[in-house]
Amino acid sequence: MKKQDFTAKILQNTAVAHNFYKMTLESKGVLFAPGEFFQLSVPGHTLRRPFAPSHSDRNEFAFTYQLVGSGTEKLSSLSPGTELSVIAPLGTGFTLPQSKSCAVLVGGGCGTPSLVLLATELQTRNIPTYTVIGARSACSLLEAESLNYLSERLVITTDDGSEGIKGNTVEGVRSILPEIKERTDDIRLFSCGPVPMLQGLAELAAAEGFTAELSFEERMACGFGACMGCAIRINAPETAEGFVYKRVCQDGPVFDSREIYWN
Ligand code: FES
Repeated sequence: MKKQDFTAKILQNTAVAHNFYKMTLESKGVLFAPGEFFQLSVPGHTLRRPFAPSHSDRNEFAFTYQLVGSGTEKLSSLSPGTELSVIAPLGTGFTLPQSKSCAVLVGGGCGTPSLVLLATELQTRNIPTYTVIGARSACSLLEAESLNYLSERLVITTDDGSEGIKGNTVEGVRSILPEIKERTDDIRLFSCGPVPMLQGLAELAAAEGFTAELSFEERMACGFGACMGCAIRINAPETAEGFVYKRVCQDGPVFDSREIYWN
């Protein structure tokens, strides 16, 4: 869908977990593909903030945000009816798999909610989906109920063991791989979350021989390719450095794990 710049009214804005809020905005016909994002204005702040939606239809879209500074604190104080400026949809999203594939969705922290939109699309396409989500503790788990409904199986991991497996999401994926491999050898992994988690998943995918698409949550200034503030390193063995820079906002935020220069 072509990028649009529009004003959207807040329909809902409520706390959903410790330190996390969910906001629903009017979409005015703008639709998101899984993995795409938008830039949202914050009253009193110059820079827009990037967010990825967990739900999208012709009337409304929703996203979850973590309280991490004055911008998100301000967002959490806004009431329904407040109007915000939105630029959407932006970026390149996930590649949707074929019907013979099995999808493995892996969400870490505030990267988890954006996978709900992907899981919804996969269910529409009858792609079997296994999901692993991780958080510091039970009180900061996000979208467990909706992802449980949309997945054949949901595995939860927490750092402190307060819910699910005590450990990280890479260990969570390892725990269900034998079951998935019995079903198909066409495994597609999709993930959004912190970079160390994405790197661990990239290494697992390389060792196990399946593909992984990773969505990066970089800080963004312009959001549409003009400032290079969101650059990440991409493998380029033909260059002296061994890498080139690409922009998360324009060339991503989703990249094939084999492209990323992790060193
Ligand atoms: Fe400016 Fe990506 S945020 S180039």
